Amino acid sequence: MKNTFGQSLQVTIFGESHGPYIGAVLDGLAPGLDISDEFIKSQLELRRPSGAISTARVEADEYVIASGAFNGKTTGTPLCILIPNTNTRSKDYDKAGRVARPGHADFTAMCKYHGFEDYRGGGHFSGRITAAIVAAGAVCIDALSKKGIIIGTHINELSDISDISFKDYASKNNVDIKDVLDTVNKKKFAVLDDEAGSKMEQAILDAAKDSDSVGGVLETAIVGIPSGVGEPWFDSAESILSHILFSVPGIKGVEFGAGFDMVNKRGSEFNDPFRNENGTVVTSTNHNGGINGGITNGMPIILRCAVKPTPSIYKKQQSINLNTLENADIEIEGRHDPAIIHRARVVVDSVCAIAIYDMLASRYGTDYFTN
Ligand SMILES: Cc1cc2nc3c(=O)[nH]c(=O)nc-3n(C[C@H](O)[C@H](O)[C@H](O)COP(=O)(O)O)c2cc1C
Repeated sequence: MKNTFGQSLQVTIFGESHGPYIGAVLDGLAPGLDISDEFIKSQLELRRPSGAISTARVEADEYVIASGAFNGKTTGTPLCILIPNTNTRSKDYDKAGRVARPGHADFTAMCKYHGFEDYRGGGHFSGRITAAIVAAGAVCIDALSKKGIIIGTHINELSDISDISFKDYASKNNVDIKDVLDTVNKKKFAVLDDEAGSKMEQAILDAAKDSDSVGGVLETAIVGIPSGVGEPWFDSAESILSHILFSVPGIKGVEFGAGFDMVNKRGSEFNDPFRNENGTVVTSTNHNGGINGGITNGMPIILRCAVKPTPSIYKKQQSINLNTLENADIEIEGRHDPAIIHRARVVVDSVCAIAIYDMLASRYGTDYFTN
């Protein structure tokens, strides 16, 4: 499937950056889920650009639910969310002199769609489309939270500045990771250490001043997920999550638990010892990130995503003319984010929620979520 993800719950996304609408269809949702306007709007607000650390293209994201909801609840039939594009400036993408933006999808889109693609503002490849994923994901985040499953993401690294990890913050402050997520999920610039956050914001401004961009690493925790969810091979919990995470534009790496750091550890250090705590099986460390053999073990799923520096930068770069394929320099116009990461964080929460919802519905059936 090209623009559809999932098995028991399927999400289809559609639209282009400068077309009339973007949107998403969720098929397979349980009947009776809350559709909270307030929550969907607050999630869209977390993605919306603001200030000099983001693009100047600010969209109101006044979405319409075209089908699948009645009296504030899902009906169980396809839920279609439409979001109009209202703040477009297509003259910045003049076809006559089109030069491929290095790092963006202009060249590969032309190879695949033979020049018929709507290239304005990056078309179907634009970060703009992620607004639809956030609106759809909000419905799943809400449904999961009513089952005690909470998802949250913070900016773990940006340039050479680090935020404290979820695990270290929770043990330092003697709090549950779930409480940490509740706090971080309300923050527009999602960090646990606000001092590190100010330095990160300054690094984004410095890159923008230099006509450049920066990337970083997001850390996500999914807590409250029952053990026994996932499949042993091709639909392992890691495969499903990384499939949808790698679909997010700009994500170039995904690791679980201790991730690539594990190569420097021995089995005796890396294994997570099992314990019985008051009748519940837990592990005393979580280097495996809550997944063994593709199946959840009941510990928090911990994952990290590498987010690349925004490809559209204002520095002069070498490229090719898309009409003639001759070498050409590019000086990009248009409005762009000097960093994607702080806006991508809620997109990551949203896609994780869609994947986890799908895995749970596959395991327990659609009605598992009915309120
Ligand atoms: C929330 C969000 C905002 C983005 N904003 C921009 C942007 O302003 N300019 C840009 O060139 N790329 C932006 N991107 C990234 C591009 O869409 C992405 O790099 C491009 O489609 C190529 O895909 P790839 O990086 O996954 O290979 C954004 C991505 C996200 C998730």
